[in-house]
Amino acid sequence: MAIRSSIILGTGSYAPERILTNEELSQKIETSDEWIRSRSGIRERHIAAPGEATSDMAVQAGRRALADAGLTPEDIDLLVVATVTPDMTLPACACIIQHKLGVPTHAACFDLNAACSGFIYGLDTASAMIQSGRYKKALVIGVDKLSAIVDWNDRNTCVLFGDGAGAVVLGGSDQPDTGVLGAKLGAYGDSVNLLCVPAGGSSNPATAEAIAAGDLFMKMKGKEVFKLAVRAMDEAARDILEQHGFHSDQIALVIPHQANLRIIDAVASYLKLPMDRFVVNVDRYGNTSAASVPLALDEARKAGRIKPGDITLLVAFGAGLTYGSALIRW
Ligand SMILES: CC(C)(COP(=O)(O)OP(=O)(O)OC[C@H]1O[C@@H](n2cnc3c(N)ncnc32)[C@H](O)[C@@H]1OP(=O)(O)O)[C@@H](O)C(=O)NCCC(=O)NCCS
Repeated sequence: MAIRSSIILGTGSYAPERILTNEELSQKIETSDEWIRSRSGIRERHIAAPGEATSDMAVQAGRRALADAGLTPEDIDLLVVATVTPDMTLPACACIIQHKLGVPTHAACFDLNAACSGFIYGLDTASAMIQSGRYKKALVIGVDKLSAIVDWNDRNTCVLFGDGAGAVVLGGSDQPDTGVLGAKLGAYGDSVNLLCVPAGGSSNPATAEAIAAGDLFMKMKGKEVFKLAVRAMDEAARDILEQHGFHSDQIALVIPHQANLRIIDAVASYLKLPMDRFVVNVDRYGNTSAASVPLALDEARKAGRIKPGDITLLVAFGAGLTYGSALIRW
């Protein structure tokens, strides 16, 4: 039997202990705190400890979200993990997380790759499965360990990224018009080359030559990504508002993907919303990819920035290039 709404029962997040500051980076590569802050808004980022895998960060965030919801891993029958940095290419990171967290074997567990939009893709997918009535409680985790795939000698990319995890627990509700109201997902597949790891997949396997050429690291055309990101975020935000008949004024809080403060600024001015309606933590975490939106969401909730009845807009873009937006009524 179809359930009317998919609601958020709890949130949680995790960032590794180790903080890497701009100052420290500028001692290793030709960059400066001033350049990084003025171009991106980033001051520092968290970096996973040696031996700390994507699954370990996900487990921490997942446990916190479950505790917040007053549930245990045994309650979960759907585990969706959005990541581009799984522990291994095979099997799904979700299966490793399932085992470490103690989610039962009858739960459906799978990964989803939509890069930095991954959490919104996961939220929409899990919500539809909850609304169908076929799943009772879902754990959706956005997690990435980008420190494992950035070239620490490439100043164009390494200064922008960090590691972390964020999670939400979803459940069904008979109350209409509440929880995850809807989402708008899309992708510009013609822009794959703007942001990718060229080797290590089936088209260009991880040979010694590919490794030597640095092709197992992330490559990015920053300026082009920037322009497309602003356009995609603006369109995704407008589309979802229009679909649900909302004006941007009715949005209490926007939780944007934390890639660059200038991108968030541009989206705010396109939507004609003041910056104090936006959650910004890019200064402390950098771009944590799929973890970015759920980490910001969890921080905003814990800081008391989300009240019952509020409407929150999530919006993101990422490699692919993918984009996504979602509306939540609390
Ligand atoms: C990457 C980004 C911060 C660069 O900012 P920008 O204002 O576009 O800077 P530019 O590309 O014009 O680079 C300016 C100069 O700074 C240099 N530069 C690049 N990285 C640098 C660094 N870390 N420190 C110092 N100088 C740097 C460049 O080499 C360039 O020098 P040149 O003019 O002599 O060639 C910005 O384009 C961006 O954020 N893009 C989107 C990236 C993104 O969000 N990716 C994730 C998607 S999910």
